[in-house]
Amino acid sequence: MIAIGCDHGALDLKNQLKEHLDKKGVVYKDFGCNTNESCDYPIYAHKVTDAVLSGECELGILLCGTGIGMSIAANKVKGIRAALCGDCFSAQVTREHNDSNVLCIGARVVGSELALRIVDTFLGAEFSQSERHKRRIAMLEEEE
Ligand code: RB5
Repeated sequence: MIAIGCDHGALDLKNQLKEHLDKKGVVYKDFGCNTNESCDYPIYAHKVTDAVLSGECELGILLCGTGIGMSIAANKVKGIRAALCGDCFSAQVTREHNDSNVLCIGARVVGSELALRIVDTFLGAEFSQSERHKRRIAMLEEEE
């Protein structure tokens, strides 16, 4: 299951994402927000990171206006490796090399068609399991 969350700056994209995931048969849990009213992105970032860390969800997707606030909030949580992506190459390689467990996208930066491809790429990629990448990820955990 995939955890998804957004703030008011990305509600439209999240709704498009839900429709897209439904069509593909990808199971997700929506942690909000659910209105266009101004809200605080860390609240939704933490709901999604909690779901990933508890194992309830394998991966998370966080959307806000730029994707930056969500990625800062998520990356402050120990055990979370959030990748802010605006292209498919980064989405692929961050899964392979960084074993990223959260994808962040800026809805006001990236067009919706590209955003959905970035999501597909991220969800379709796998960690390489290479020793050098495992070593580097372990070093990140030490520094946290
Ligand atoms: C909301 O206006 C905006 O600040 C937020 O969506 C995000 O871009 C923050 O990083």
